[in-house]
Amino acid sequence: MGKDVRDQIRNSKTLLGPFPEFKVEKSPASPMNLFLEWFQVALDHHVHEPHAMTLSTVDADGRPDARVLSLKDTDEESWYFATGTGSEKGRQLDGNPAVCLSFYWSEVGRQIRIRGQAVKMNEEFNARDFLKRGKMARAIALTGNQSKLIDSQSAFEGELNRQLSNLEKDSAIIAKDWTVYRVQASEVEFWQADEERLHIRLKYFLQNGQWVKKRLAP
Ligand SMILES: Cc1cc2nc3c(=O)[nH]c(=O)nc-3n(C[C@H](O)[C@H](O)[C@H](O)COP(=O)(O)O)c2cc1C
Repeated sequence: MGKDVRDQIRNSKTLLGPFPEFKVEKSPASPMNLFLEWFQVALDHHVHEPHAMTLSTVDADGRPDARVLSLKDTDEESWYFATGTGSEKGRQLDGNPAVCLSFYWSEVGRQIRIRGQAVKMNEEFNARDFLKRGKMARAIALTGNQSKLIDSQSAFEGELNRQLSNLEKDSAIIAKDWTVYRVQASEVEFWQADEERLHIRLKYFLQNGQWVKKRLAP
């Protein structure tokens, strides 16, 4: 079986298309507007979970780390995500707020890379976000254990059940470390696959408060 799977890995095809057209000359001045245009195209093409993105961070030793998170919202200039500050990524972000968010939507052959700084939102904002979460998600967050080792499954379940019953008694409890971060971008790259491999890359750079667009070699 291992060999078959490895054969399949070696013979896997990527970027088969057809893909939607990307008219670079018509791209908007702001990367957020292009992001929203592309997100709409992803929705129109039934991209599976287009809001799932990879959040890359670095740890205290400068070692990169990455995991998939949900994009929660956007505004004119920021991308939002939420997590517990006690998690691995939360600790990494406390030490170094530099992040990269990346999206890959295979159905449309599009990749987006957003580099910037993650900024914590205030307590009220975080609480509002927390209360929108499902009960189990809130109970898990209330244990405050994300990314910690599970030494005992029964102790883990006991704590989870304790938090579930606390929520039964008071549904307004908020996990203190639940935090929404907004990513202020300084660079955003849009990558459109081409079946012939003449991919189109457009990168926005923030320079003196203005977005400047440049083409990149594929
Ligand atoms: C599609 C998808 C969405 C996810 N959304 C979130 C999220 O919004 N917040 C979060 O903390 N973890 C989310 N996770 C779990 C993270 O990938 C990760 O396992 C968790 O946050 C712990 O990461 P850390 O150990 O680097 O802190 C999601 C995972 C997937 C696959």
